[in-house]
Amino acid sequence: MTLDLVIRGGTVATAADVYRADVGIRDGTIAQIGLGLEAAEVIDATGRLVLPGGIDSHVHISQPSGDGIVMADDFESGTRSALFGGNTTVLPFCLQAKGQSLRAALQDYHALAEGQCYTDHSFHLIVSDPTQAVLGQELPALVADGYTSFKVFMTYEGLRLNDAEILATMDTARRTGALVMVHCENEDAIRYLIGRQEAEGEVRPKAHATTRPVAVEREATHRALSLAEITEVPIVIVHVSNGAAMAEIASARARGQKVVGETCPQYLMLTAKDLDGMDWEGAKFVCSPPPRDEAEQEACWRGIETGVFDLFSSDHCPFRYDDPAGKLNPRGRTSFRHIPNGIPGVETRLPILFSEGVAKGRIDLSRFVALTATNHARTYGLERKGSIAIGMDADIAIWNPEAKRTIRHADLHDGADYSPYEGTEITGWPETVIVGGKVMVREGELIGAKGEGRYVPRSRSALAASAYP
Ligand code: URP
Ligand code: ZN
Ligand code: ZN
Repeated sequence: MTLDLVIRGGTVATAADVYRADVGIRDGTIAQIGLGLEAAEVIDATGRLVLPGGIDSHVHISQPSGDGIVMADDFESGTRSALFGGNTTVLPFCLQAKGQSLRAALQDYHALAEGQCYTDHSFHLIVSDPTQAVLGQELPALVADGYTSFKVFMTYEGLRLNDAEILATMDTARRTGALVMVHCENEDAIRYLIGRQEAEGEVRPKAHATTRPVAVEREATHRALSLAEITEVPIVIVHVSNGAAMAEIASARARGQKVVGETCPQYLMLTAKDLDGMDWEGAKFVCSPPPRDEAEQEACWRGIETGVFDLFSSDHCPFRYDDPAGKLNPRGRTSFRHIPNGIPGVETRLPILFSEGVAKGRIDLSRFVALTATNHARTYGLERKGSIAIGMDADIAIWNPEAKRTIRHADLHDGADYSPYEGTEITGWPETVIVGGKVMVREGELIGAKGEGRYVPRSRSALAASAYP
């Protein structure tokens, strides 16, 4: 068999196995796995790990974020940063504005992404206006067109849905085989707590954490799971930050519900104390749910080790810090409630989990692959992605497991002006990244061009698919 490219002599890892083999690529697809493979182009991977490219199924890019606030990444910088972090596919969100049709929103996002991406990409929808037309006609047609997942919010003014709207949206998912992702925080409880803090004159960034305590997330997680049980749909609980919300997921599973749990680097690496930095520095760490404490970090690690979590995503939602369109916008300087929510992290997600998880012996390589690639592909219907096997897209990251690096924003490739993980020591980094058989990053150097990343329509989730042959 004539191959275009062989990755020779590396240690291949999948969610099931770790073994020595050459990987042969032809026409953008993994065509052969074996020993002694030959091709015109050979990459020597001796001493390296050959892993499926990361799939980051929770990123925000070019998302409108309120008056005068601009997200720090467009599709060029966001996917370039993802690529350097060992990712080959990202799933950003397409936000429906109130009154807007989902098709119109998608047209906007496709136009922004077209010709700009270094990685493959697909879109989740954010349903903010679940009218009869949206739920009855648009969503079913879009699911059939390959937009097979959508997110609903229980918080954020202008985005949150009430229980009746969530039930109606979940019912559309039930009828169409789509997967619902839920942001679980109780908006009314948050507003009550914000009112109390501001009445006491507390406006600093640290109040973002105290006005969104664990109970706010736990209650909403319980409610989302109950609504999913009632409507009989599988759901994803995204960006879980603590043990109480994890216990809700575990109980729902014990009742027989299909639930996917997702956590993110911020819940392993940051705490609420980070929001208490000098001179508004805490704004750099404002995200929702907020980082908790060391005990909750440990709980999240247990969830990663024991399988409460299937997905480890970045929730990359970048805003510049020292910028009037970012964290330090004029209103954001007056109160925590006006600081845009979200932090950057698409490039550091995989190195952090590798270093803190694999190198420190908390998880093995196969679990790393499952949490960062394979489970994302299965959960979100990316049939040809997330593993190294014959017939799969040749999306591969070659890692140096011994590389030592210190995270410095100056070395990263996103559009923000800081990293929440500045100064963190890392062992293990992806050196070469291949997307669809094309070497995009070779030993740390960008050699691919923007626009080589393709849009990928998706099948239904493996969780929902059994009802939809
Ligand atoms: O603070 C966060 N997580 N911002 C991103 C939007 C979201 O809720 O995922
Ligand atoms: Zn969210
Ligand atoms: Zn998010």
